Parts: sequence; structure tokens; C-alpha cells
Amino acid sequence: MVDTRPFLPVSSHAGSDPTGPSENRRKPMKLQLSIFFVLLTVGFFAALLTSNNGSDNGFVKENEHGSLASPSSEKQLRPVSRGPAVGVSEKSNRLFAKDNENQLAYPWNNSMLSWQRTAFHFQPEKNWMNDPNGPLFYKGWYHFFYQYNPHAAVWGDIVWGHAVSKDLIHWLHLPLAMVADQWYDKNGVWTGSATILPDGKVVMLYTGSTTENVQVQNLAYPADHSDPLLINWVKYSGNPVLVPPPGILDKDFRDPTTAWLTSEGKWRITIGSKINKTGIALVYDTKDFIYYELLDGVLHAVPGTGMWECVDFFPVSKTEENGLDTSVNGPSVKHVVKASLDDDRHDYYSIGTYHEKNGTWIPDEPKIDVGIGLRYDYGIYYAAKTFYDQNKNRRVLWGWIGESDSEAADMQKGWASVQSIPRTILFDKKTGTHLLQWPVEEIESLRLKSYEFNQVKVQAGSVVPLDVGPATQVRLFVMYLCVSPIRSRPRSC
Ligand SMILES: *[C@@H]1O[C@H](CO)[C@@H](O)[C@H](O)[C@H]1NC(C)=O
Ligand SMILES: *[C@@H]1O[C@H](CO)[C@@H](O)[C@H](O)[C@H]1NC(C)=O
Ligand SMILES: *[C@@H]1O[C@H](CO)[C@@H](O)[C@H](O)[C@H]1NC(C)=O
Repeated sequence: MVDTRPFLPVSSHAGSDPTGPSENRRKPMKLQLSIFFVLLTVGFFAALLTSNNGSDNGFVKENEHGSLASPSSEKQLRPVSRGPAVGVSEKSNRLFAKDNENQLAYPWNNSMLSWQRTAFHFQPEKNWMNDPNGPLFYKGWYHFFYQYNPHAAVWGDIVWGHAVSKDLIHWLHLPLAMVADQWYDKNGVWTGSATILPDGKVVMLYTGSTTENVQVQNLAYPADHSDPLLINWVKYSGNPVLVPPPGILDKDFRDPTTAWLTSEGKWRITIGSKINKTGIALVYDTKDFIYYELLDGVLHAVPGTGMWECVDFFPVSKTEENGLDTSVNGPSVKHVVKASLDDDRHDYYSIGTYHEKNGTWIPDEPKIDVGIGLRYDYGIYYAAKTFYDQNKNRRVLWGWIGESDSEAADMQKGWASVQSIPRTILFDKKTGTHLLQWPVEEIESLRLKSYEFNQVKVQAGSVVPLDVGPATQVRLFVMYLCVSPIRSRPRSC
């Protein structure tokens, strides 16, 4: 059902035609590339202007009421949106939408905007999506669960959507895995994580918002472990298995992690919270995922960072180029703590040392501690979660991209949010402080053709046409060799 067609010109474009005859609209790639850098520059300025413009309110109103019904309008101070026929999307039109309330807007409708759906990123057919939940590889399938509102393109009525894939790129959508049908998750089946037990069975821990809006942790497991698609899920009859401990407020206790083993053979999890303005990660041990023991102290705490959501905790290898199961520990391993700060809606991580005995973690560099230093991503990216992919021996990172559309625009288009392309994640041996991220190798399967151009001479400020034939998307890898005019010697730059 997902419309993955690239932009299709609409012939019934009303209004002036700034680009001339229609055959010019399908310029051969040679021409398109020659204007590529100009477009890039334009795009960059557009982004700056958008963020300087503040809130999005206003443009939707124009869409709802905008029409070309009064061409006699005296003021034509800004250009009327050129519309999809010339590749202009509603988003780019916001640039022009504000300066004069009386100006005419292009009459966008949903089918025109449908091409803005992504072709490669994960998204459900319609409605609202947020955090990734319980990703895992099971009996030949990658499973992806996600926070989902089945009724609308805005947050609310949250349940678990579910999809499976063979390659993390192409997805089959399955029935909802868990719905809000118990007192302990009536106000939402919220974020959780999967743990694969040594016998291959799967347990899921998730946060429920109760009828009284208390955040509690619940246990669920597959109804049939022989089903590779894990279609049906059972909620444990004794739920909830954890309620907010003394000193923690009812609404500050959520998002349990994947469990890891201690050397004593117990399972250990961490759950984000806060005390006043200090973000913390509580630690629990359990033998059976039913009864839990709260450890003294916390895994880590950072004053001033507020509520920690979606805490993630995992080992990275200092020596190897592969990912590690969450239970791996030892001298060749560092541990990462990631928290999603509810206050600023960004994902921060830090690398440090895990002390198994007292269940604490200490950052290597206190200056770049969790929440005050490094982020996974400097765009819109939140509530990320990793999992260990035992199929390819790698750790894979998922993250929710909330986009920048207004709520009204989301309702108009009928969907909200995408997930990032999954990324493999490794310790950066060079810096010792950072993680390396790269889209999973399966993404390469989407590339259809490639061309190599060698010894292309580029003068400063010049435009160099490259003939790559027709294409709707082009990815450029460029290696520059700069020749210094003074020494006439190649140098890298
Ligand atoms: C949207 O507008 C285009 C161009 O005018 C038109 O072809 C299309 O049928 C419209 N779609 C809907 C759902 O109104
Ligand atoms: C939290 O803040 C309140 C009010 O400022 C204070 O009384 C209390 O001691 C603080 N709690 C902790 C654990 O610091
Ligand atoms: C936990 O143990 C480590 C290593 O022994 C120690 O450095 C750290 O101070 C301990 N933390 C707490 C809170 O006791």
C-alpha cells in the first residue's frame, strides 16, 4: 500500500509555468547533475531559513483554505507556490508561506503529498509511529516492533505494531503484537525490549501505563516459540512485575532495557527515571523476569539532565570489528550508556567502564558524560535502541525520526514519523570516546547501477557535467586530490 513511486509530474498545474515546455521538466541526468551544486546550495539555505522561521503554524491554514479562486488579488509580492509539476513540495513552500497572510498558496491535496512517503525507511501504512521496540533476530527473521497509534496520525492510544524482514530493508507488516487490553497497560503499551534466553526463547519487558496513569513494567512472551513470525503474544498473568520504587514518581519509571547476565548467573536490567532534575538509571536483578531485586545506588546519574527515557546499555569491543552480545563483559570491552533526554528530546551516549559488582558505570571522560556530551545524531532522532544481531555478529541501532511536520500537516497526510535506516555501531578505536555508525550493509542492495569517473578536473567554481543516464536518485562518492598552485604538489584536503 505504500506509494513508493518517485515524483510524478501533475499536468493540470494551474498558474504560471516558470520552466517552459514540459519536456524540460524531465531533464536528462547530465543537466540535472550540472545544476546539482546549485540545488545543494539552495537546499542548505532553505534549511537555515526554516529553522529561523520558528513554529510551523500558519502554513497549514493556508493549505486548508488556500485556493486559486481569487486571481484578482492585488498583491503578488511573493511567488505563488510552483507546485509538484516542478518538483516543489509543501515543505519547501513553507519558506514563502509566512510573509504575507493574504497570499495565495498552491492547493495541495493528499495524493500530491503522498510522494513524500519514504521509499526505504521503515514506516507503517498510515497513522502515528514513535519509539522502536524489542528489535531482535529470531528463526531467520528480523523483528521490529514500534509504538503505534492505530487510530490517528497523532500520538495516543499506543499499542505495539509489528513487522518482519529478511534484510532489515524490506518489511512485511504483521498484526499488532500487543494492544492496551489490561488494567496495567490500559493507557498505553509503551516502550520495551527483548531478551533472548540461552535456550533460544524470547521474553519481552515493556512499560504499561495503568488505568491510573502509573508507569509499571510488564512481562510478555511469544504464544508459540515454533512460529518464526512470533505473531501472537501472551502477557504474563501476574503483571505488573515492577512498580515505581519508593522515591520515584509514578510517571518517571519507564522503558526497560534488554537484560544481560551477571557472573552470578542473574539477569540484570536498567530502567530510566529521575530524582528532581537528576537523570538516573535504576538497576534490577532477576532470576526469572518475575521477581526483581532493586540494587542499591544507580547505574549512573547526571545532575541537570532530567528524565532519562529509553536508556540503552551495551558492550562494545575495544579490539574486534564486530558487535557483542549484551551479556559480554571483560577487559577488552567498553560499555555504552545511552539516554534519551525527555527535556530536550535528543539521544546522548557516553563510553565508560561497567562495574559489575556494584552495578555502576563510570564515564571515561566526565566532560562528555551522558546527556552533556555526544549524541547519536544531530538531526531529529530520538528513543534509539540497539540489539545484538546474532545472525551477522553485529550490534544494530534503530532510532525514531519524528520529522518536522506540524501535527495538522501529519493529520492531513495521514501519517507521522519514520524510522532511521538501521545502523551498525562500533567502538571508535581512533578517538576512544566515540562510536562509529554506518547504515547496515544490506542498504547496498538498493543501489541499481554505478559509474566511476576518474581524473575529472574540477576548477574552482566550475560545473562539471557527468553523464549517468536517467535516475530519480543519485548518490555521489567523491575523492578530491587538491593541487596546490604554489608547490604544484598533490596534497590531501
Ligand atoms: C489532487 O490534485 C491533483 C491535481 O489537481 C488531481 O489530479 C488529483 O486527482 C487530486 N487528488 C485528490 C484526491 O483530490
Ligand atoms: C528534591 O527537591 C526538593 C525540593 O527542592 C528537596 O526537598 C529534596 O530534598 C530533593 N530531593 C533529592 C533526593 O535531592
Ligand atoms: C563501584 O565499584 C567501583 C569499582 O570497585 C568503584 O570504583 C566505584 O566507586 C563503586 N561505586 C559505588 C557507588 O560504590
